Amino acid sequence: MARIAVFGLGYVGCTTSIGFAELGHSVIGCDISDLKIQSLSRGIVPIFEHGLEDSLQKSLVSKGIEFTLESGKALKNADFVFLCVPTPMNPDGSADLHYLESALDEIQSDLEPETIIVLKSTLPLGTGENIRKRFQEFENSIVYNPEFLREGTALSDFRNPDRIILGSDSDNAARQTSNLYKGIDAPVLITGFGEAELIKYASNAFLAVKISFINEISHLALNTGINIVEVASGMGMDKRIGEKFLSPGPGWGGSCFPKDSRELVTTASKNNVELRVLEAAITANEDAKNRVVEFATQVLGGDLSNKKITILGLAFKANTDDVRDSPAMAVASKLIAEGAHLKAFDPAVKRLDSQDLELAHSVKEACKGAELLIIMTEWLEFAELEPKEIFLEMASPNVIDTRNILKNRDWENLSSQFLSLGGRS
Ligand code: UGA
Repeated sequence: MARIAVFGLGYVGCTTSIGFAELGHSVIGCDISDLKIQSLSRGIVPIFEHGLEDSLQKSLVSKGIEFTLESGKALKNADFVFLCVPTPMNPDGSADLHYLESALDEIQSDLEPETIIVLKSTLPLGTGENIRKRFQEFENSIVYNPEFLREGTALSDFRNPDRIILGSDSDNAARQTSNLYKGIDAPVLITGFGEAELIKYASNAFLAVKISFINEISHLALNTGINIVEVASGMGMDKRIGEKFLSPGPGWGGSCFPKDSRELVTTASKNNVELRVLEAAITANEDAKNRVVEFATQVLGGDLSNKKITILGLAFKANTDDVRDSPAMAVASKLIAEGAHLKAFDPAVKRLDSQDLELAHSVKEACKGAELLIIMTEWLEFAELEPKEIFLEMASPNVIDTRNILKNRDWENLSSQFLSLGGRS
């Protein structure tokens, strides 16, 4: 079993440390936030992610995991150091590598010669090679091991990945890294740095394109009275297409697809390549969000000023409290800009920066006096709502379900206007 240091304890870092501890490795997590270290050391995971806390507490009891603020302590006798710091987006669409640079600066002085550096952060093309050059006078091998974890199912994705990608110029280091995943049943692909970097970006981009495609088909289906759920289901039966990521909705969001798709377009353009399909998918994604506002305007008689609207769901998808680049937040801002008064409820989002968006404590409180209810996130508890009870709270029973989770026929039967934009629960 190996000794693994993990730097950066956000979504990826927490899941990676807890996942490796579960596999029996001895893990030490390191972060610059004292609060995070204290919380994790007490068995509390500072992010909203199913299953992590249980697993962390088991590993704390068995002493398979510990946390520290001190990079020197984390790196002592480490066989591997995993860098899991964020690579957010610069205003020009490119990736901001300053967290990664600081993490590399931090490990440089205490790094032991045999420690293998494993990069988990999403790396723009050429970064692995640049880091290799930066560490050329060191003996350390470098491996890029991109993550394919989804928020909300991150631990289960760690345990059951579709594949493990290892990009390196050292076959030996890549193989040693692959041994860390012993016990996990997944194919391992060893490549160069560039290939691994592009696999990560192209995979996210491909999924974003797939969703934008089904969202446009969904628009066509809506305008022609065709049931998109049946269409998506029939398409998904073709193994070459696959049923996953064919749920239409209000557009893709989150901390990855929007940032990674723009970074890929930017990098391609720097290399004189136009990624037209991906660019169109990005535009189609804006259209998907705008369509929700257009439908709201139609339902409310052509003018949104002073209209009372309820938004159910603010997270970019269910089972997370993450509102980064959330379609719900974008739609809310647009509705507010048109003069509407908004109240929102999300089971996981308890705090917002926006002053204009009133956050309610319950669905019913959010719906009081509303002239329109818009479902933006596919939380299971919204699917179970009783239309009669909700309509009692509202001023007018109008509903737009952007995720098609309201299956109860009464929604349609009892509302004045009911619009389902497509999607499957
Ligand atoms: C995504 C990828 O799925 C992960 O493999 C990857 O590791 C991660 O980005 C990353 O790069 O870190 P995540 O951002 O957690 O994961 O979210 P997804 O589950 O992929 O959903 C992204 C967006 O697409 C959400 O807004 C979701 O509602 C939307 N979506 C997804 C649809 O509208 N329809 C679908 O059928 C699927």
